Amino acid sequence: MASQLDSLRRHSLVVADTGDIEAVARWKPQDATTNPSLLLASAEDARFRHLMDRDIDRVFVNFGCEILKHIPGRVSTEVDARLSFDAEKSIDKARRFISLYEKAGVGRNRILIKLAATWEGIRAAQQLEREGIHCNMTLLFSFAQAVACADAGVTLISPFVGRIYDWHKQQRKVEDIPLEEDPGVASVTRIYAYYKKHGYATQVMGASFRKTGQILALAGCDLLTIAPDLLEKLSNSNDAVPRKLSAEGARKQSIQKLDLDEKAFRWMHNEDAMATDKLAEGIRRFDADARKLEKVITALAAAVPAK
Ligand code: E4P
Repeated sequence: MASQLDSLRRHSLVVADTGDIEAVARWKPQDATTNPSLLLASAEDARFRHLMDRDIDRVFVNFGCEILKHIPGRVSTEVDARLSFDAEKSIDKARRFISLYEKAGVGRNRILIKLAATWEGIRAAQQLEREGIHCNMTLLFSFAQAVACADAGVTLISPFVGRIYDWHKQQRKVEDIPLEEDPGVASVTRIYAYYKKHGYATQVMGASFRKTGQILALAGCDLLTIAPDLLEKLSNSNDAVPRKLSAEGARKQSIQKLDLDEKAFRWMHNEDAMATDKLAEGIRRFDADARKLEKVITALAAAVPAK
């Protein structure tokens, strides 16, 4: 009998959300995603010491290259969260990643540059896409962010489920929110329908999951990026996985098209208290973990003299 993971693969492209190369090798996903927090965890793991370097960009690229040996598709590499409000520097950083990958023999078609979906991040992505550098917009919590990303012609967005769920659980002071009312699942469902209804090519990759039910509630989404513990749970169940999202279903809905310039984007995003909190917090957290990673690099470099 097929596992839920195999059944899910019939509806959505499954992506591994991890910096653990052995987990990537085990789960054989199509694509893989990393972020500074995941790479910090791997950098502290002795199994991956050989991928460390004195330059944090090279560490990210080393992990990316290693992950690519185990997957047929693309790996996502995230731009420093500190650049989230600087389009020009984000573009420079993305070009550097691509140049390091190309020097290592990896073409840009196998890389997704991950950028925070701020107004500046979205403008950077628009320019990078014109250069054939494909982007994955992360820390995406509001509908305004999703609309602006599609209008910018980005390759892929990662709307977060779990962090939206976390925020609402905390606000409501509850232990759980049932799937039918899950605001993270509702957010991705709405974005998916809007994109399909209006014929956007931007792919939707649900991200940040807290339980398998959230993943299964989005079966049919273009891609789903899933952490190893949840991949394991899905592989241990044989329950049926019915499709929940479909382009055909979305096209039948009546959904108004929005036109967002910078002012309208900023207003609409700011009206969403959850998204405003979570975007700001997400940038702070990724930045904090990148700084910790730099400290790990410095400590390792001090222990091993330069060649
Ligand atoms: C993936 O691209 C995201 O960075 C990841 O899913 C975030 O997950 P978290 O909310 O569990 O940190």
